[in-house]
Amino acid sequence: MLNKKIAAMLNDQINKELYSAYLYLDFANYYADEGLDGFAHWYEVQAQEERDHAFMIRRYLINNSIRVTFEAIAKPDKVFANHMDPLQAGYAHEQYVTSLITDIYHEAFEQKDYKTMQFLDWFIKEQGEEETNAEDMIKKMQLFGGDAKGLYALNQELAARVYAPSTTGPAM
Ligand code: FEO
Repeated sequence: MLNKKIAAMLNDQINKELYSAYLYLDFANYYADEGLDGFAHWYEVQAQEERDHAFMIRRYLINNSIRVTFEAIAKPDKVFANHMDPLQAGYAHEQYVTSLITDIYHEAFEQKDYKTMQFLDWFIKEQGEEETNAEDMIKKMQLFGGDAKGLYALNQELAARVYAPSTTGPAM
């Protein structure tokens, strides 16, 4: 049986991951409206990954005999003034999610819950990759997004992202 506080933090993290999916789909809505289908596609794939994260945490709780409960998912309410805005919001959001995962990890450490620490190892690594990806998007936009040809090429590159469910996943 998991410690109550850790179970509650993980349960809350399901909501945060589903919100992440919702947020990135909202980014995709913005880019689709701007005619940047490659950017929209990239964030659609990102939303699928976030949904997967929520499912993984839900599964971990169920495997540990925890009754999962859901709260309302917040409305993504960001207004974007330019094509860079969602990229910066995405990077800030991933840093926030990393802090949440780190908090749960810290609590697991305090409680000597090595099983949850092992489960979260995958998420720690994933967050590192997601922060890097988000930062790379900003750098590429700074380098190439300033003119129409560069933006077109970047849009094409992002359109090539393939959704691939994690083959390994976290330790359950
Ligand atoms: Fe599941 Fe991007 O955090």
